[in-house]
Amino acid sequence: MKNIDSITHLRGESIYLDDIPLLQGTLFAAAFPSPMAHGVIKQLDLSEAERMPGVVRIFTHKDIPGINQIGGIVPDEPLLAEGHVDFCGMPVALVVAESRDAARAAVKKIKIDIDPRPVVTDPREAQANDQLIVPPRTFRLGDTSAAWQQCTHIFQGRADTNGQEHLYIETQGAYAIPQENNALKIYSSTQGPTAVQRAVSKVTGLPMHQLDIDTIRLGGGFGGKEDQANTWAALCALAAYLLKRPVKYSLHRMEDMAMTGKRHPYSSDFKIGLDNDLKIIAYEATFYQNAGAAADLSPAVLERTLFHCTNSYFIPHVRATAYSCRTHLPPNTAFRGFGGPQGMFVIEAAIAKAAEALGIDASVIQQKNLTKTGDEFPYGQKAESEAHACWENAEQLYALASIRDEQSAYNKANKLLKKGLAVMPVCFGISFTKTLMNQARALVHVYTDGSVAVSTGAVEMGQGVNTKMLQVAAQVFSIPPHRVKIQSTSTYRIANTSPSAASATADLNGKAVSMACTEIVQRLKAVAAEEWQVQPGAVELKEECVYINGTKTDWDWNRLVMTAYVKRVSLSEHAHYATPEINFDASKEKGHPFAYHVYGTAIVETTVDCLRGTYTTDAVKVVHDFGSSMNPAIDRGQIEGGIVQGIGWMTMEEVIYDKEGRLRSNALSTYKVPDIYSVPNEIAIQFLRPTVNDNLAIFRSKAVGEPPLMYGIGVYFALRNAIKAFNPGAEIPFDAPMTPEKLLMALYTKGNPAKHEQTVNHLATHP
Ligand code: MOS
Repeated sequence: MKNIDSITHLRGESIYLDDIPLLQGTLFAAAFPSPMAHGVIKQLDLSEAERMPGVVRIFTHKDIPGINQIGGIVPDEPLLAEGHVDFCGMPVALVVAESRDAARAAVKKIKIDIDPRPVVTDPREAQANDQLIVPPRTFRLGDTSAAWQQCTHIFQGRADTNGQEHLYIETQGAYAIPQENNALKIYSSTQGPTAVQRAVSKVTGLPMHQLDIDTIRLGGGFGGKEDQANTWAALCALAAYLLKRPVKYSLHRMEDMAMTGKRHPYSSDFKIGLDNDLKIIAYEATFYQNAGAAADLSPAVLERTLFHCTNSYFIPHVRATAYSCRTHLPPNTAFRGFGGPQGMFVIEAAIAKAAEALGIDASVIQQKNLTKTGDEFPYGQKAESEAHACWENAEQLYALASIRDEQSAYNKANKLLKKGLAVMPVCFGISFTKTLMNQARALVHVYTDGSVAVSTGAVEMGQGVNTKMLQVAAQVFSIPPHRVKIQSTSTYRIANTSPSAASATADLNGKAVSMACTEIVQRLKAVAAEEWQVQPGAVELKEECVYINGTKTDWDWNRLVMTAYVKRVSLSEHAHYATPEINFDASKEKGHPFAYHVYGTAIVETTVDCLRGTYTTDAVKVVHDFGSSMNPAIDRGQIEGGIVQGIGWMTMEEVIYDKEGRLRSNALSTYKVPDIYSVPNEIAIQFLRPTVNDNLAIFRSKAVGEPPLMYGIGVYFALRNAIKAFNPGAEIPFDAPMTPEKLLMALYTKGNPAKHEQTVNHLATHP
């Protein structure tokens, strides 16, 4: 089935925040951002700005009737700076004016005097200064300190990954409209309507039932609007509440880039030990997460780094420690993969380092160590593994051995063009790691004309979740899709929603839709059974018709619905779903946090121009574990998009802050994202055979949002192998992204292939 939004998207009729018609009297907001990353506010002079034409009011923290606090996990994030500033771009004041231009012009006239304080942008430096957001976490399996004795080969190193700008096509924004008795209706471009509702409630002091957060759809989220939509909605709500007029703020691209957090950069240390047979015996990693100036979602992101620190591999002895380090950057936040990709990059770097030192292909080590069913993850859950199935399918289907042969023939024949190959297995746990968030609700109404409306907590952000929700309702009712409408996501209809995140939105909300529809079907069947004087079990609903004992009757769906109404049987249902079987004990760092895992393997081929340092991704060939995909077109789209986004993170997207904490890559002219020329020449996607044990996925169709991003990591390692084909002795730090500049330098570094200074023998003692 096609995405239900495809026609309105194509015609430009789909409604995003900026398409909502404005009410008369609407005012426009713009935030004044801190020009410095760290300091004490000595003076804030609004006088000239206040005299600018069209300015209605300028708000500061002093105007906040509730509390000046929007931190979701840790209360460490003021809505408007109070006394000090902690990052460049931190909102200090909010100008509200008759027009957008007037608001922006007035922002430029605000003067601030800040007494500067030292700026820290490096997470290792922050950790050394004890600037941690939360206490460090350590996941353990086995005993690494004893295990080093069993290792023939031990390698240590460092791996760094940079941030990533979300670059949702629709920037952050909100539109707050006062209602009677102080209630507010807020259109927000958010993945988490309830998160917005909570933040607005804190700031205005209004109870949550006064706040209708309504989201039609987003022009992209990618994690950037899981928590960080709150700021703009709270600012608009504050102004609308105090001025009793509608207030809108939709951010300019450069405001958005400068003021919002990004994917967390990580700096990490690793130590890996293998035996003679290339089994990984022990692995230690220390992760320094650059959290930025406030917690935001960093503690949860940190946790997922630990959950995925061994990716698809079973390693009997693991010790991984993660620090969430407070720096003077905008608070970094959720981004597709949510810390998982950062953890996976490090284990892949460790394996690559071992392979390069041993003079073998990394895939030999990778394949030998893939998880099998029954293997234990460092957090205690046992794998139901598809890792081997995906790998071996990919190996055969795409003829990995011949790709390798063709590449080496090509590399022998070509001096200045070199090909590189990498295999990238992925294993990603599905569920919010915070168990309580794994709940969802759905509200289903059947109207007397037989049409159906479904409300859930799911937010449509281009991932196609509304189409999947519609498919669930249509299938359970056995009616055609056009008879079902998916309503906007509103906190008045569905309360206490978890954000649309963690790849789990379709599973959680789909299960709730299925439960609500099933309940209504039971009631309808009872109505039909009474009419035909049979047991309800004899009634079936098929293709809009009523069947009794397998025989089609002249009753259609409409007649059944109308009869139920006449008999005063409820045609509405609200259902609640909570994922069963999951738990996690953070005091032991053990449990069964995930409903299931998604597996996959990508074979990645690249070509490097060794004169220019430019490169192409020739192919990404995937075998992916979808379960039984309920919508292959949408799922393929998620994989293609995820791969390209992953390639962007690993190769060209370079977030640059200077030492003063100012964003230098602050526009699309200085921040390069993948375009049509940088997508792989070929993306092949093969569905792994449907499995039977993924009951916790909606209709056994496994979550697909985040896992494919991590196939992009393979491109980094394929490029590395191409560089090595040109210059076998190249010493290349594990420092992503591999931009063309870095790649060019790496091609011409002088290194000694025999020298592996950090290689230690099996008797080396562990520090
Ligand atoms: Mo997503 S990164 O779990 O919002």
